[in-house]
Amino acid sequence: MDLVLSLIITISLVLPFTGRCNHVYSRSDFPEGFSFGSGASSYQWEGAADEDGRTPSIWDTYVHSRNLDNGDIACDGYHKYKEDVQLMVETGLDAFKFSISWSRLIPNGRGPVNPKGLQFYKNFIQQLVTHGIEPHVTLYHYDHPQALEDEYGGWLNRTIIKDFTAFADVCFREFGSHVKFWTTINEANIFTIGGYNDGITPPGRCSRNCLSGNSSSEPYIVSHNLLLAHASVSRLYRQKYKQHIAYNEQGMQGGSVGFGLFAIGFSPSTSSKDDEIATQRARDFYLGWTLGPLVYGDYPYVMRRTIGSRLPYFSEEESELVKGSSDFVGITHYTAAIVTNVKPYFSGYSDFYSDTGITLTCRNSKH
Ligand SMILES: *[C@@H]1O[C@H](CO)[C@@H](O)[C@H](O)[C@H]1NC(C)=O
Ligand SMILES: *[C@@H]1O[C@H](CO)[C@@H](O)[C@H](O)[C@H]1NC(C)=O
Repeated sequence: MDLVLSLIITISLVLPFTGRCNHVYSRSDFPEGFSFGSGASSYQWEGAADEDGRTPSIWDTYVHSRNLDNGDIACDGYHKYKEDVQLMVETGLDAFKFSISWSRLIPNGRGPVNPKGLQFYKNFIQQLVTHGIEPHVTLYHYDHPQALEDEYGGWLNRTIIKDFTAFADVCFREFGSHVKFWTTINEANIFTIGGYNDGITPPGRCSRNCLSGNSSSEPYIVSHNLLLAHASVSRLYRQKYKQHIAYNEQGMQGGSVGFGLFAIGFSPSTSSKDDEIATQRARDFYLGWTLGPLVYGDYPYVMRRTIGSRLPYFSEEESELVKGSSDFVGITHYTAAIVTNVKPYFSGYSDFYSDTGITLTCRNSKH
């Protein structure tokens, strides 16, 4: 589940997921050891937004300043986690994926750990593990502390790499004996497009109809810093926790650190060469934007050619650090899309969409 599903605005995401299936699947159709689970994010699930020392994240600020539905109470998981774990047991889940609220664990974004926040996550993880449910933890689900947004502009400023790495260090140290699956960043592409190109999710920045922002440059700067932060956290885990004797006399933590992407299945709208090339461009922009650096150490060539100097550069050292820094890639998949080439145009205004040179439409699903 993601709060920002509505974000790819060119795609109607109100999809008929209720399609009739010809087959009924059961666990025996899946390989031995296949893990079934569900997931949530801290802001969607926890509630208790200003309890026990938690401070606002950019989500709190965004929804309250616009009078939108908020997560003040949400599912009240902060208080009802035991009941929720019971429900997971009754559902037969093998795993649960959740995120840690940075501003609950470290209220100012850096510095002292909030003991009550720490205790909550320890209790919850213990509850999961005791009931045989494997915890999968996301470190960043779009909710950095508002304090850091105010202080230096959050992900627009490289200072956040250091602060995010210190936050991750606390998580690995405190929870790593029970947690083997870590996702650093959830759906990086959605966060950058929604928050910095469209301005329709926190922190609500864009060129048009936003109080501030720059859709030509900020999505690329933020994505760059997300990748560097991910790589920094991954290195920390490998150096300090993965192989080495960790805390709690548990020996090696031996887990893995990955990166999360919103994946769309792209196909061309016609059999023309232009649409075929445009479809590959769509993959490069939506997926290669982060997968390119993670696998090859740099952005896809077509992005560099189109975006030029608005796309930040990796130093050689950074490139080496980012390359191979993901043990796995987490895929969230909700939809397929049809790609149509757009003739080059110059409107005096470029943003992520105009840079892609494509339009997307929803695959027509008839059920
Ligand atoms: C980033 O934050 C630091 C520390 O707060 C500040 O000195 C610097 O000017 C900021 N850089 C940018 C590009 O905003
Ligand atoms: C947005 O960023 C681009 C690229 O850095 C720059 O050329 C442009 O002047 C910026 N626009 C505004 C309104 O600041």
